[in-house]
Amino acid sequence: MMNTQSEMRRKLDALQHKETVRILAMESSCDETACAIIENGRRIVSSVIFSQVDTHALYGGVVPEIASRAHMDACDRVIDQALREAGMTLEQMDALACTYGPGLVGALLTGVNCMKGLSYTTRLPLVPVNHIEGHVSANYLTTPDLEPPFVCLVVSGGHSHLVRVNDYADYTLLGQTVDDAAGEAFDKAARVLGLAYPGGPLLSKLAEGGDDTWLALPHPHPDGKYDFSFSGLKTAFLNACHKMEQKGETLPKADLAASFERAVVDTLCERALLVLQDSGLHTLCLAGGVSANRRLRHRMEQLAATHGFRLCMPELWLCTDNAAMIGSAAYYRLRRGELAPLTLNAVPSLSLIGKEGNQ
Ligand code: KG4
Ligand code: ZN
Repeated sequence: MMNTQSEMRRKLDALQHKETVRILAMESSCDETACAIIENGRRIVSSVIFSQVDTHALYGGVVPEIASRAHMDACDRVIDQALREAGMTLEQMDALACTYGPGLVGALLTGVNCMKGLSYTTRLPLVPVNHIEGHVSANYLTTPDLEPPFVCLVVSGGHSHLVRVNDYADYTLLGQTVDDAAGEAFDKAARVLGLAYPGGPLLSKLAEGGDDTWLALPHPHPDGKYDFSFSGLKTAFLNACHKMEQKGETLPKADLAASFERAVVDTLCERALLVLQDSGLHTLCLAGGVSANRRLRHRMEQLAATHGFRLCMPELWLCTDNAAMIGSAAYYRLRRGELAPLTLNAVPSLSLIGKEGNQ
């Protein structure tokens, strides 16, 4: 084991002087098994995403045990396909990367163990990646000249963070949700409207034809200046729907969806703008599944035009889980000499940073 580790260390050190570093990255933290090949953290050579969403939709949410088994089935295939689409072999890779947290422990472990095995047999160094850092890094793939520092709003199914990206791999957490994540709130509201899992994108589609002023929803202000809260909003929404159902009224679903979406987007925009203005920075990036939301993107574009800041958003397919973003994040970790030991474990509650700066 010691010899293997020192061999990996030597290889990783040698990569610091290589002009083009090619990383094969794996993502398996939730219900997407994905593999991608990324050059120098910025260029996508190939990317494959195998989504389990149809399977989990039958149960109205992700079933962890089923997710782990499906990852086991798919991980070999996505690696083969990523290599095939790139027209490359494993010998042409410089390093491997995998998500090791946060996420579902069984799901994470399938990807971690698969890549540990591959690292051991190929002797390629393995770089461990934080999934949230991956979401932030999706911006480096879409905006080639983007460099830290910038502010990033990370909104996914499990997280809602406002982060100051000081440098690659250096973050200050300024605000976060005190209860539900934005994506989680979208999914719960969607369920009440009878939409399938994951409800966020379906609710957003439904909202397109609705009146966003139809239902007045609370505008929560948690104690932390830059924090979010979605639980009160969600409960008010659920209560309004249940009351109408009890009275035998037909739910005006499009109006309800539009009202809910507007309330969430308004909160996100307001907090993100506040953080950006206080930070003195001029670039705001969006990241995570909810950043695929059309209303959020549109409102942010309006704010950027009004307040004169630079807005960066990942392409739609890079907002939700994928391995390309993991390959990008891995490159900057590799540059810092970060190497996974072969004892690497999954860390389901891994955080990006400790909380600071919140008043
Ligand atoms: O980042 P992601 O793919 O997975 C996690 O790391 O959690 O985010 C998934 C979340 C789900 O809650 C999904 O409903 C939400 O992102 N989402 C959306 C949209 N697309 C995905 N929410 C609102 N509008 C969308 N267009
Ligand atoms: Zn994610």
